[in-house]
Amino acid sequence: GAAVEVDIAALQPGEKVTVEWRGKPVWIIKRSPEQVAELPSLDGQLADPKSERKPSELTPEYARNEHRSIKPEIMVAVGICTHLGCSPVDKLQPGPQPSLPDDWKGGFLCPCHGSTFDMAGRVFKNKPAPDNLEVPPHMYLSETKLLIG
Ligand code: FES
Repeated sequence: GAAVEVDIAALQPGEKVTVEWRGKPVWIIKRSPEQVAELPSLDGQLADPKSERKPSELTPEYARNEHRSIKPEIMVAVGICTHLGCSPVDKLQPGPQPSLPDDWKGGFLCPCHGSTFDMAGRVFKNKPAPDNLEVPPHMYLSETKLLIG
């Protein structure tokens, strides 16, 4: 399918927009500075913190970094669980919530079998989902225009 252009000028910290690309939902999320700063502290709790698994399928080279993205504050990921393909739900707000640890820093919960993902789409350890969420191919056309695909 065709590449999709997205204007993210109005996106505020903590907000998410979803666009469709090749029939898949692609999430674009603006992380808060606190959430960006917290990503490295989660590494020990994650199954693949450095996104080393299936790099060619799941994490383009320009996203193989601590925040899995081109710009530290902007997360771009396919919103499909790597277990059996359910749609993880937003749990973007930090803090205690049902089915989540008390020290939750924000991220996503898959309602089907309980996999959890952080604010970079990295899967937590000992969950049914084997891999981090896919980062689709993308680039910036300008400061605030993204091209997915
Ligand atoms: Fe997401 Fe099974 S489909 S945990």
